[in-house]
Amino acid sequence: MPYNASMSTVYLNGQMLPLSEAQISVLDRGFLFGDGVYEVIPVYNRRPLRLAQHLSRLNDSLNGIHLDLSIDAAGWGEIIQKVIDANQGDEQSVYLQVTRGAAEAREHAFPNKVSPTVFVMSSPIADIPAADDIRGASAVTLEDVRWSLCNLKTVALLGNVLLKQEALTRGYDEAVLVRDDYATECSASNLFMVKEGRLLTPPKSRHLLPGITRDLVVEVAREHGFEVIERDIHEAELSEADELWFTSSTKAIVPIVALNDRAVGSGEPGALWREVLSYYRDYVEKLKRGEAS
Ligand code: PDD
Repeated sequence: MPYNASMSTVYLNGQMLPLSEAQISVLDRGFLFGDGVYEVIPVYNRRPLRLAQHLSRLNDSLNGIHLDLSIDAAGWGEIIQKVIDANQGDEQSVYLQVTRGAAEAREHAFPNKVSPTVFVMSSPIADIPAADDIRGASAVTLEDVRWSLCNLKTVALLGNVLLKQEALTRGYDEAVLVRDDYATECSASNLFMVKEGRLLTPPKSRHLLPGITRDLVVEVAREHGFEVIERDIHEAELSEADELWFTSSTKAIVPIVALNDRAVGSGEPGALWREVLSYYRDYVEKLKRGEAS
């Protein structure tokens, strides 16, 4: 049967129900203010990848917006597994969102005694493709016009949305964001650069999301003997890069083969990308067998 999102089963405030029946108030602060946080967790062979790390980042995001939630890691684990089990596909992308809930009136300040809205849904994703099946992406540098708490994974994504759309409208696949002359990340992914055999990525700060895929890429690359340096990357260095990649939970590791209409390196997906992708895929195969988390 073809996949139909409206037939999927979601979790909303303690209940499992069809997506088409899930409803929240128009006074929900997620809707009115973007007052909420989220996570996207990839699932392979029905096992979430790096669940503990995603939940730890969720905790950081909740603390960052001063939202108290009584669900602990074990509770989240159960909810997420229930949603995975209730839906089609061994490979899924689980989306979870927590907002400050629906107050009785639209007031900026935090309301008293309002229960958070907790929502989890899932959609099928493809398995991570082999290197030969991945097309290199194009990217454009754009000014990072977002706010200064990009380390929090909030649902207030208008800055990211506008930047992504500008890239697409101008004919590129992704935007590499530059703040005060330094690359931060991409509109919905983290950035890696290869120079003279070394892997570079901007250090964690309030200007970028601490990507779970980024950390796993750093980990597997180091395990296999690569030198990985976390340091600021000046915009001018981007045009001298041997390779550029972007990473995210839904896309894994994607090579950027053209930046601002100029070839990156040879203009083909690079050799280091190919190697690190194979290590990443090996890790996911271990997860599928229950030998990694
Ligand atoms: N986005 N930076 C930004 C701005 C992102 O939106 C994302 C992911 C990442 C990569 O983080 P991770 O490796 O943990 O997925 C970096 C998700 C996938 C999204 O919004 O759909």
